[in-house]
Amino acid sequence: MSDRDFIKELGIRHIGIIMDGNGRWAKKRFLPRAAGHSQGAKAFKSCLDSCVRLGIPCVTFYAFSTENWSRPKEEVDALMKLFCSFMDEMLKLDSKNIRIRFLGDRSKLPQKVVDKMIQAENMYSDNTGMWCCIALNYGGREEIVNAAKKAAELYREGKITLEELNEDKFSSLLYTEGLPEVDLIIRPSGEQRLSNFLIWQSSYAEYVFMDVLWPDFTENDLIKALREYSERNRRFGGV
Ligand code: FPP
Repeated sequence: MSDRDFIKELGIRHIGIIMDGNGRWAKKRFLPRAAGHSQGAKAFKSCLDSCVRLGIPCVTFYAFSTENWSRPKEEVDALMKLFCSFMDEMLKLDSKNIRIRFLGDRSKLPQKVVDKMIQAENMYSDNTGMWCCIALNYGGREEIVNAAKKAAELYREGKITLEELNEDKFSSLLYTEGLPEVDLIIRPSGEQRLSNFLIWQSSYAEYVFMDVLWPDFTENDLIKALREYSERNRRFGGV
């Protein structure tokens, strides 16, 4: 069976990927951390291509967390520059029918980055293929507090009753509104934690932790993670 057929049969809906290990990749080579992020950006683009080729319906990449602002300014600036050049590329290249969405709090991002995000989202808005979501200035706790505020606002305006506020309604107030359920979270680099990534959405997800550093992550690693996922027995709280 081809990898594409295997994935179709698997019925996987949404994968979250924590792109971790760029700093260690650079350190091992006596390079600045920014060089690890540049290599990480290459791995990201190649992984995106693999996801399209393999027919994954939706993938969310963790690119910048609400906690990452505490890194040295030089590193944050290098990351913002990388995001901008990726979006510039996206505005020029064949979109491969990808739909794009940025998850996170835009209010603290540089205006230049936000403008490009909006431009990319708009340009790709008529596409019907795979969802590529990029979590940028994203934090799971911030997302939940933000959704709680939206719910309170709806209640105050009389647009929702307390009885109507259920899990589905609350989910629709998150950045991931309308996206499929998260089935699998992949974290390379050997760390085994969620780091505030999709904490609401991954309640029933499977986790695959891998030792490879993100800049070295290949399509083979992605398939390896999917094969490991296919062997899990998901019970969703049942028996
Ligand atoms: C975590 O590794 C990685 C990040 C905080 C940045 C991830 C960003 C990219 C891969 C850039 C490409 C993204 C786009 C959308 C173009 P780390 O720096 O914490 O690594 P370490 O744990 O080894 O120090």
